[in-house]
Amino acid sequence: MDARAMYEAYMGWYEQAKEAWGIEVGLDFEPANVIYSGMGGSGASGDLISDWVWDRLEVPFFVVKGYHLPKWAGEDTLLISVSVSGNTEETLSVFYEGVKRGCKVVAISSGGMLERVSSKASKFIKIPKPLAPRVGLPSILYSSLKLLGSMGLVDTGEVEESIEVLRGLKESLSMGSEGNPAKELAQEIYSTTPIIYAPPLMAGVSYRFKASLSENAKMDSIVNVAPELCHNEIVAWERMNVRDYRVVMLRYEGEEPEVKERMDAIREVIEGYGHEPLEVRADAGGRLPKIVQNLYVCEMATYYSSLLRGVDPLPTKSIDRLKATLKERLDYIHRYTELGDWITP
Ligand code: PA5
Repeated sequence: MDARAMYEAYMGWYEQAKEAWGIEVGLDFEPANVIYSGMGGSGASGDLISDWVWDRLEVPFFVVKGYHLPKWAGEDTLLISVSVSGNTEETLSVFYEGVKRGCKVVAISSGGMLERVSSKASKFIKIPKPLAPRVGLPSILYSSLKLLGSMGLVDTGEVEESIEVLRGLKESLSMGSEGNPAKELAQEIYSTTPIIYAPPLMAGVSYRFKASLSENAKMDSIVNVAPELCHNEIVAWERMNVRDYRVVMLRYEGEEPEVKERMDAIREVIEGYGHEPLEVRADAGGRLPKIVQNLYVCEMATYYSSLLRGVDPLPTKSIDRLKATLKERLDYIHRYTELGDWITP
């Protein structure tokens, strides 16, 4: 089992964030739009940033999780291409299209093909190779934020506050801590199918929570975001066997009235079916610190769930198997692009 190594890596999130935030990176560019490209653990930071800035930025911030850029991407686009391994074909494909279209491209990776072709990018940010992409999230998130901060696109004060949140949580989320909220959450969910309901600010956190439950604890979960879930999924409760599930609502202090009333109303509907939802509630100051607070608690809960289920949190064999199969069937990068020619020795 690699559980101990994973634990140490998770316990290093504050230091990892600080290191990434300390990198020197600046880009003299005023984008008309920003595209964040990455899959799985590499794309997750794009979701988190998008939830934070979508209604604050003067320019659109768009996350791509696939092979292709939208038609409108061009010379006024800042493309941030992220792949921890540097070998993910979807991300390499988008990188290729971005270079071809004249986007301002910044690549973030620990190595692999993305590093080998990075002379085609305007900037390459090398991050330390993590044990697994999900435990390396702070390196990706905070180097991306440093880049965006250097262009005046994000509030750096909130970023610094969110790093302090990681520092503050480290002790309370550690193995021996009394009243550890992540351990308590894991105890409640590890033998169920969790249903994660989130307001828009916590959408990326909810999806990362689900992803890490799958990857660390090898368990499935359901995730949905309000208010949309009130227009479809809520109906399923009329015929659900409530004992098979455990609802976790991701909430925060200072919720806007439409968020608070909506989440309270959802809670009341579920209680009406005889189910008591759990809540993970961030009380940090700014919006990014709240996102990071709920993220860390949920992520550690997935780690403790893996221990309770007796599974090794590190390996993700099915991902590896699918990547190998697709490489064989598609060999997308070499067959359809000239990316191979861009490799600098
Ligand atoms: O957690 C994982 O291992 C995956 O979600 C990967 O992050 C995903 O497959 C993309 O790989 P990479 O991060 O190397 O680009």
